[in-house]
Amino acid sequence: MHLRRDSGSLPQRQRVAYDLRQANHTLAAVGSLEGALVRFENVGLRYGMGPEVLRDLTFSIEPQTFQFLTGPSGAGKTTLLRLILLALRPTRGFISVFGRMSHELDKDEVTGLRRRIGVVFQDFRLLDHLTTYENVALPLRVRGREEATYRAEVTELLQWVGLGERMHILPPILSGGEKQRAAIARALIARPELLLADEPTGNVDPALARRLLRLFVELHKSGTSVVIATHDLELMNQFDGARRLVLGDNRLHIDD
Ligand SMILES: Nc1ncnc2c1ncn2[C@@H]1O[C@H](COP(=O)(O)OP(=O)(O)O)[C@@H](O)[C@H]1O
Ligand SMILES: [Mg+2]
Repeated sequence: MHLRRDSGSLPQRQRVAYDLRQANHTLAAVGSLEGALVRFENVGLRYGMGPEVLRDLTFSIEPQTFQFLTGPSGAGKTTLLRLILLALRPTRGFISVFGRMSHELDKDEVTGLRRRIGVVFQDFRLLDHLTTYENVALPLRVRGREEATYRAEVTELLQWVGLGERMHILPPILSGGEKQRAAIARALIARPELLLADEPTGNVDPALARRLLRLFVELHKSGTSVVIATHDLELMNQFDGARRLVLGDNRLHIDD
């Protein structure tokens, strides 16, 4: 269960495709003065009638940045990621994603914005009736791409995360670490502008965690903004270039 390549860079073909997309995004950003990918203004969140889980959150996630989101279990890391993903509405304050105010979006617009975000869920959320390959290819399929145009790309990425031999089997047969890598590959395949990963190294040993971190750093270097929720201090210490968004006492503290 090791990654095929020790570190290396993203496959060349993907990098070229990414650079072109990045150029388009940069132009789009200039055209619309888009600025930050995500902006929170005085955001508060409570579940139902419960106490405020998050309070007074004001921060931005800028293009091409790397941040760890940290804090003890129950601090609100998953809740914060769900707010960014527009899966939860703030109970007060404002959230904008890709320059759009969250409360002004209809369902189709939310779906469109979410496609620009890659997500690694804590519980993976692989579809059990699709093979590993089909799961990873899904974000491209829902964009209307023909299989012939992405088969090599998907196979290459699966090999890169060490699942080359496992790509035609169903997720229930994969180990926890393999599911995690499949979920990571699915989040990366469409070259998202923003990647959110919820404890993505929670199910693997420290050596594999380091390799997966390198994969995220590589993605970041190719232009994606990355947010990794983790309480693994050792992991965070392996990448000095990252901001730390620290949740505690329902508030957010930022270490630049
Ligand atoms: N769906 C929910 N309904 C009610 N309370 C929730 C729900 N999800 C999370 N919480 C509560 O919100 C707080 C933050 O949870 P969470 O965002 O999962 O923290 P973390 O991911 O940092 O462990 C916890 O007190 C948790 O019990
Ligand atoms: Mg969580």
